[in-house]
Amino acid sequence: MSHRITRRRFIATAGAAASVALGSSIFNLDSVLAAPFVRRNLGGMDPSDPILVSYRAAIKAMKLLPTANPLSWDYQAAIHGTTLAGAHVAWNTCEHGTHFFWSWHRMYLYWFERIIRKMSNDPCWALPYWDYHNPSQRTLPVPFRDPASELFVADPNRGFGWNAGTASFPASHVDPSSGLAALDYFTGQGDIEQNPHNNVHVDISGWMGNISQAAQDPVFYVHHSNIDRYWNLWLTQGGGRTDPLADATWKSRSYTFFDENGNQVHMTACDILRCAEQLSYTYESEPPQVKEYCLRIIFPWWLVVVQALLQLPGPPVELGERQVTVPVDISQLRQRITPLLESKNEHIVIELDNVEAEREPGVVWEVYLGAPAGVPLNAENPHFLGTVALFSAGVHSHVHGEFTPAHFVFPANKALAAALRTNQEKLPLVFVPTGPLIDGKPSQPKVQAPVKIGAIRVAIARNEERREGPIVPEKPEPNRPK
Ligand code: C2O
Repeated sequence: MSHRITRRRFIATAGAAASVALGSSIFNLDSVLAAPFVRRNLGGMDPSDPILVSYRAAIKAMKLLPTANPLSWDYQAAIHGTTLAGAHVAWNTCEHGTHFFWSWHRMYLYWFERIIRKMSNDPCWALPYWDYHNPSQRTLPVPFRDPASELFVADPNRGFGWNAGTASFPASHVDPSSGLAALDYFTGQGDIEQNPHNNVHVDISGWMGNISQAAQDPVFYVHHSNIDRYWNLWLTQGGGRTDPLADATWKSRSYTFFDENGNQVHMTACDILRCAEQLSYTYESEPPQVKEYCLRIIFPWWLVVVQALLQLPGPPVELGERQVTVPVDISQLRQRITPLLESKNEHIVIELDNVEAEREPGVVWEVYLGAPAGVPLNAENPHFLGTVALFSAGVHSHVHGEFTPAHFVFPANKALAAALRTNQEKLPLVFVPTGPLIDGKPSQPKVQAPVKIGAIRVAIARNEERREGPIVPEKPEPNRPK
């Protein structure tokens, strides 16, 4: 063990280690080494920070390896998705729009991080996270913009303005609040997958905008580190939030990766429930992690049941270059809706079903319900429902199994409460195509492929408390067996 490891990991865990140091010996290596790695916030991190220097060194070394070597940059990216031909173990195995989005990506990052540690010769390395929700971190982090750096990807493999530092995320595209507020796991995961996850991919575009190329960009991993952090943050809010431990399929599906020696490894969700304990990492400044166990199902837990009240008539709605407005006639629903706005366990949602596009549309549509004409449409508007951005689910050209259309459920209580005050009968449901901000101003995005929405419904989402289990999952099973 080098001196460096002891010291750095010691510092990283100073609080926990201090008592050990006082109580016994300063060099109580076991407890120091057992302390988890800390995944640090990328915000303000200097390009010369050892974390970034090691990341660069590893990428450089990995790019020198042949594609068929599991430790190569190409192979690691291909595990997520690739356009390369050839059948290699674990290629194209990422999970999107399924029950396994959070869990698969957690496993993927874990092994990637170990490989970076090895390839950089930096046994202390931990993947940083990009906290773009923070208004000071909405542009591409500076270390990723330096053309001389391995963290750089040239235009147009990154969309316009990101490398120049002029592009930034609108607040509405990087807003985890709906996901964090959800009580049941699959709703929270699905919302976070959309916003901020898909939006970040679509806004950065280039490689990041395409599921088969995204993981070639080093920024992919710091993006996903943040998405993984949200899983922990979601759990720590309590209120009955728990991993879907009653779902046997979720717990037992096994995925294949490679360790830092190039050996195949297999993992299930049960191996990744407790980051610090099982995977030896924490996030900088996160609250104490919730510990869950596969054999211990926590009761009660929540399940959301969605029940349609009204399906909008008419042909499928098509989203293209222009803003689209669909009237939602609530005249028959007023009596029904009003009490629901007060209810604790039920709320109104707008559901978009069978959402699909031929290719990645390359656009984030902001969705608003009932906004009066003339008010600025942005995330602060109470009528803002959420975003529609297709990255994998719903995109016909990117299927590594069977095609699954995308599905969206937007909590609509706030927008409806505001709209009901105005006595309108027909509430406009508005879809606004948006791109990243350029120099702080909205840009008009180019629509690469229109999006078709098969059905729009007003529905009730009911949080159901489950006091026993296990149960058969009520959501459709993901489409491809592994
Ligand atoms: Cu598997 Cu952000 O992608």
